Amino acid sequence: MDARVIAVGAGKGGVGKSTVALNLARALRTQGAVGVLDLDFYGPNIPSMVGIEHEKWTTNWTLAGPSMRRFKPVLREDLAIVSTGFVLGEDQPFGVDSMTAGLIAKQFIHGVAWPDLQYLVVDLPPGTSTVQQILVRELKCAGALVVVTPELVAHLDARKAVQMFRSLKIRVIGAIENMSAGNCPHCGQAISIFPSAPHDRSIWSMGVQKLAEIPLQIAGPSSKPTVGGLDPSLALLYQQLADRVVADLTT
Ligand SMILES: Nc1ncnc2c1ncn2[C@@H]1O[C@H](COP(=O)(O)OP(=O)(O)OP(=O)(O)O)[C@@H](O)[C@H]1O
Ligand SMILES: [Mg+2]
Repeated sequence: MDARVIAVGAGKGGVGKSTVALNLARALRTQGAVGVLDLDFYGPNIPSMVGIEHEKWTTNWTLAGPSMRRFKPVLREDLAIVSTGFVLGEDQPFGVDSMTAGLIAKQFIHGVAWPDLQYLVVDLPPGTSTVQQILVRELKCAGALVVVTPELVAHLDARKAVQMFRSLKIRVIGAIENMSAGNCPHCGQAISIFPSAPHDRSIWSMGVQKLAEIPLQIAGPSSKPTVGGLDPSLALLYQQLADRVVADLTT
C-alpha cells in the first residue's frame, strides 16, 4: 500500500466527518486512484452513503498467517471502498477491545487487495480515546484533517483531536469548518445556526489552518443532498479543498 493516507477525524460526533471524507475522496479522483477506508466501528456510514447494501466479509477472516485471505474493496463511483461495516452485522454494536480494533485496521490496510492508489481517505470514529489512538497509529498517515462546526463544543472536542494527532506525530494539514453559515432556501438570506466559538478556545488558536468552509445545506424545495449529486458551488468547494490537500502533501 503506497497510497498517501489522509485521516479525517474530529473529537466530536455528527459534525460531518463521513460527509467530508467521502466528498473529499470524490474530489481527489481528478488526481488519480482513490480509496476510502471507513474505520468508524460505531457508525460505519460510508457504504450506505454510496449505496452499498448488505456487503459482508464473514468468511475466513484471519488476522495473520501465510494463508491469509485478501479481501477485495468494493468499487463504487470509481472509489475503492472498505468499511468496518463489512465485518459487523447491521444491528451489531461495536464490541471489541481497542487492540482488536487496531488489528482489524491493520488487516484493512495490509490484508486487503487494494488497487494501486494515489490517496486513501480514512473516516475515523468520533472521540480521542484508546481506540482512535490505536487506529491512527496503525494508519501511517501522511496527514490528518479535522472537521469542526463553528460552535464551541465542536472546537473543544476538536482541540483534543488536534492534540491526539500531534502527540502521535501526525501532521494536521488543516481543518474544515462544516455547517458554517448558509443561505435560506426561501428568502436567500445568510443564516447560521451555530454561534462561533471564541477564538482563544477554538482550534484556530492552536495554529490549525482553515482549509474550507462548507455551508450548512438547508433542506428546501430544490435542495440537494450533502453527499452525491452536490450542487456546483458545493462541488467546487470540495475541489478547492482537494487541491489544497494535494498541494500540501506534495510540497
Ligand atoms: N454541510 C452540511 N449541511 C447539512 N447537513 C450536513 C452537512 N454536513 C453533514 N450533514 C449531515 O449531518 C449528519 C452528520 O454528518 P456525518 O454523518 O457526515 O457526520 P459524522 O461526523 O461522520 O458523524 P459520526 O460521528 O456519527 O460518524 C448527516 O445526516 C449529514 O448528511
Ligand atoms: Mg461518520
